Amino acid sequence: MEPHRTVYKLVYLIFLLLAIGTRLQAQPTEQVNYNEAKVPTYVLPALLNTTANRPVRNKTTWEKQRRPEIIRLFEENVYGQMPRSYDRLTYSVTHEDANAMGGKATLNEVLIEVVNHAKSVKINLVLFVPNQPKKPVPAFLLINNRGKDNTDPTRAHKSDFWPAEMVIDSGYAIAAFHVSDLAPDDSVRYVNGVLQLYPDQLTANNGMKAIGAWAWGASRVLDYLEKDATIDTKRVALVGHSRGGKASLWAAAEDPRFAMCITNCSGNTGAALSHRRFGETISRINTTFPHWFTNNYKKFNNNEDALPLDQHMLLAAVAPRPLYATNASKDLWADPTGTFLALKQAESVYALYGLTSHLPARPPAINHPIINSPIGYHNREGEHNLTAYDWRHFIQFANLHFRHKPIRFKKEP
Ligand code: GCU
Repeated sequence: MEPHRTVYKLVYLIFLLLAIGTRLQAQPTEQVNYNEAKVPTYVLPALLNTTANRPVRNKTTWEKQRRPEIIRLFEENVYGQMPRSYDRLTYSVTHEDANAMGGKATLNEVLIEVVNHAKSVKINLVLFVPNQPKKPVPAFLLINNRGKDNTDPTRAHKSDFWPAEMVIDSGYAIAAFHVSDLAPDDSVRYVNGVLQLYPDQLTANNGMKAIGAWAWGASRVLDYLEKDATIDTKRVALVGHSRGGKASLWAAAEDPRFAMCITNCSGNTGAALSHRRFGETISRINTTFPHWFTNNYKKFNNNEDALPLDQHMLLAAVAPRPLYATNASKDLWADPTGTFLALKQAESVYALYGLTSHLPARPPAINHPIINSPIGYHNREGEHNLTAYDWRHFIQFANLHFRHKPIRFKKEP
């Protein structure tokens, strides 16, 4: 054989081996289940029984016993401790434009600095407030887990992920901060942020990680908003998409000052039930994103039945505040049915407050939003995303629940 042919063959063989190796690495260790018939039989932990197995029959027992128990279960097993104290919060407006969006709004870019044990974290807040009416207005606050260009203060770049003009035109303020200010979304660098302020969290098995840090950040932004006279902080809706939606749900459950929670396509360890093992599972999420949840959560990899909780309990912890969850029809990874079933379970807690949920018995058809209900829901046609369609319905939901305004449904495009 000619020598150059042998070299070619060798090079080919090496490439082949490398390609097989990469593919093997990319192969999931476990098959993803997208088949409803393969959902195992499961028993959800009872929402309305205390850990001492006492029935919860009224809102007093719910608020005094069961709700705090549930928050502790999630702190211990899933999102980690939520440190509430810090030494100091200061802020400065780094840029103001009273004539933003063609005069419709005032832009404030605010640098919020939180200090604890001589370490600090800086949160960059982008905030647009409508110039009319001249009284405190309700607000939407987005936990931004995508590119910063989505919340461009200059508005040179506009994005449906954060359609600020639409929200301003509807009479609400709109704000956003980026998750990387609190904890970079990276399995090594996530420690460079909030965790520096609370070093004990780094070694504790129930220590917070990135999602806990993002939720912590949302509460610090609310601490700032409480000092801003233009915002009606009794009416702040916290919005998050996907991993940001897991954080918005945890933050709202844990911090009752958020008046409304919107969790968009949040899926596993967001609004969807883990016991179903449909789409993303606990072991998948913990393996791909080891920096999101506590060390303790890893005990439940392929062991959902041992979980002393499920996400219906977190949704219920938002009660009696209005709660809106969404899915996208093509986003089976986030388990739309499991999300709807979790919301249905949470209805019993809203009922303790005399609030009747109007969710149908079965998941509504695609693009059929349920707005007129303290628990709202839609399954939008399309892909995993946060879109203008989603925001239009968040605004309608807020119009109804924050302002008791009748809803005028416009024809969808
Ligand atoms: C991945 C992850 C999900 C997450 C999503 C997102 O798909 O598995 O849990 O919600 O990213 O944040 O977009």
